[in-house]
Amino acid sequence: MKNIVILISGAGSNMASIVRTAQRDQWDVRLQARVAAVISNRPDAGGLAIARQWGIATDVLDHRGFAEREAFDLALAERIERHDPQGMPALVVLAGFMRVLTPMFVARFAGRLMNIHPSLLPAFTGLHTHQRAIDAGCQVAGATVHLVTERLDDGPILAQATVPVLAGDTAQSLGARVVTQEHLIYPRAIAAWLQR
Ligand code: GAR
Repeated sequence: MKNIVILISGAGSNMASIVRTAQRDQWDVRLQARVAAVISNRPDAGGLAIARQWGIATDVLDHRGFAEREAFDLALAERIERHDPQGMPALVVLAGFMRVLTPMFVARFAGRLMNIHPSLLPAFTGLHTHQRAIDAGCQVAGATVHLVTERLDDGPILAQATVPVLAGDTAQSLGARVVTQEHLIYPRAIAAWLQR
């Protein structure tokens, strides 16, 4: 069985969509894959309760307990590996995980570390992507699923979805439109990657 570990920091709506799709499409039978654990760096992340409702193991590693980024990432890597009998989960999925990861962490999971970013990369890396797209006068916005490299919001693109930017859009209204698409492309990209 290929174990998937999902990292979250907040609401976990992408995580929920991945778990729902895995269940509906019987990834355990068809892809020999399962979501083995959901780990949050925030104890109050709403997604933790959702994961528990699905019967998925949850774990919290609070980054505020670590003075150095490297120490947190090392502890996080060990937690992730604990959720696989061989200590090597097939895939680590960042789903609204709001931490910049160190090169050490990225190297440890190289080629099996995936992220979703709420913009059409390579445009608008970093934060406040929807407001920046509106301010730039973009007529389309969207989201990107990509493999993670050492550079922030960079790496081979696996999937993208576009939505229109409408007159009067706010970051919130545009974000709501984008996240609906995220929920479709992320599970699809993961399934395609597992079948590659
Ligand atoms: C999503 O829109 C995701 O693309 C974004 O955070 C949101 C998490 O929502 N990720 C980033 O900004 C990463 N840089 P969720 O917790 O409901 O899935």
